[in-house]
Amino acid sequence: MSPRYRAVKGTRDLLPSESERFAAVESAAREVFRSYGYGEIRTPSFESTELFARSVGEATDIVHKEMYTFLDRKGRSLTLRPENTAGVVRALIERGIQEIPRPIRLWYQGPQFRYEQPQAGRYREFRQIGAELIGVSSPAGDAELIGMLFGFLGRLGFAGLQARINCVPTGPAREAFSAALRDFLRPHGMRLGPDDQRRFEQNPLRLFDSKDPDVQSLLQGAPRTLDFLENRSRDHHEELKRLLSSRGVTFHEDASLVRGLDYYTLTVFEVSSSALGAQDALLGGGRYDDLFSELGGPEVPAVGFAIGEDRLVAALGADPRPVRPVVFVVPDSSLDFSYALAIANQIRTLLPDVVVESDFTGRGISKGIAKAAQILKDPSQYAFRIDGVRVVPLGSRERESDTVTMKDLATGSQETFPRKALAEYLGAARKQ
Ligand code: HAM
Repeated sequence: MSPRYRAVKGTRDLLPSESERFAAVESAAREVFRSYGYGEIRTPSFESTELFARSVGEATDIVHKEMYTFLDRKGRSLTLRPENTAGVVRALIERGIQEIPRPIRLWYQGPQFRYEQPQAGRYREFRQIGAELIGVSSPAGDAELIGMLFGFLGRLGFAGLQARINCVPTGPAREAFSAALRDFLRPHGMRLGPDDQRRFEQNPLRLFDSKDPDVQSLLQGAPRTLDFLENRSRDHHEELKRLLSSRGVTFHEDASLVRGLDYYTLTVFEVSSSALGAQDALLGGGRYDDLFSELGGPEVPAVGFAIGEDRLVAALGADPRPVRPVVFVVPDSSLDFSYALAIANQIRTLLPDVVVESDFTGRGISKGIAKAAQILKDPSQYAFRIDGVRVVPLGSRERESDTVTMKDLATGSQETFPRKALAEYLGAARKQ
């Protein structure tokens, strides 16, 4: 039967075997980021459209053609967040950032929305894990943040990843760079497509996002951002490179990296993974020292990153799901259900790490055991990685004699013992 309703194009359901991978990655993020003093922030999934237009930038692809924008019933223009940095900055300004002790260290995880052409690794609803370090202007802040990021990736088993870094000029230096880019392109008399023409006019830095291979190959010979840096910016960049090297982060400089959002000042970085297909950008970030003031707040320097969580999970070498022993309690018939409930609870209390499932179909012990054995044949659909399956068959014999039988499905070995010895038995089983 073909389903009447399907998930909307570019969205997907995460069933337990998948969603537990996301949960595992998120709890690793929480642990690593917490050790650097980061607390979690949760901002709304939609904001006023104006917020993204002002922060991400009118000339960007995100604002120009990828936002889910709608009018609410009162005619207000709202947008499903395409990214989370603008929301974090808005929230802090709203709370009175002047009063909050700095630096402020925040991380987040959650869905973001972009109307892009779906393909492997590119969704219209996708998830990000991000972190923002607010109130530090020194390159030591960039280095600590990037070091934390690599610590997190290392913890998940990623090895050999490299950051691409660049430094984009700000203020008058950026104007000079934009003018130089226009001057460079003009004599080539290229006929630009409508997107690139818009970029050329509104913000030539955005031409680096061009999908046109001719424009990209022309840009290879274009002026370099690094040649336009003022002394202070250059010092920032040089110091960051020194700090990253001493922290052991592998990186290389990429003069064409400008990132697809307008709010960046100075440091920008990206990490790609060869384990992904065409959509190989695993994460991106950078410094945004002007964003707080652009959005009506005080001048506050900040730096952050966001990881594409869907891509992170897809690129993982090792399965991040926790390993759990599983116990199936299988009552013979409905007469044994209450004994089964009691035994299952007792095991959960004694061994909180164990997954205890009760079979209440009343289909009988042998069918119940056969069902439990299926999980050993195909554990991939299960929420956890499985560390052994044991079955506790319960019939009138166990109920009347107040005993428990435990059968290890992998070895077939089985033991029966008094219920009051359950703690002792499980303690011994755990040590095995
Ligand atoms: P971004 O580069 O636009 O940066 O997105 C970060 C990451 O989100 C990308 O590297 C990619 O892995 C993932 N991503 C983006 N679009 C999609 C999609 N359609 N499907 C799946 N994954 C996707 C930002 O969002 C900035 N807010 C990062 C930042 C934080 N900068 C400073 N602080």
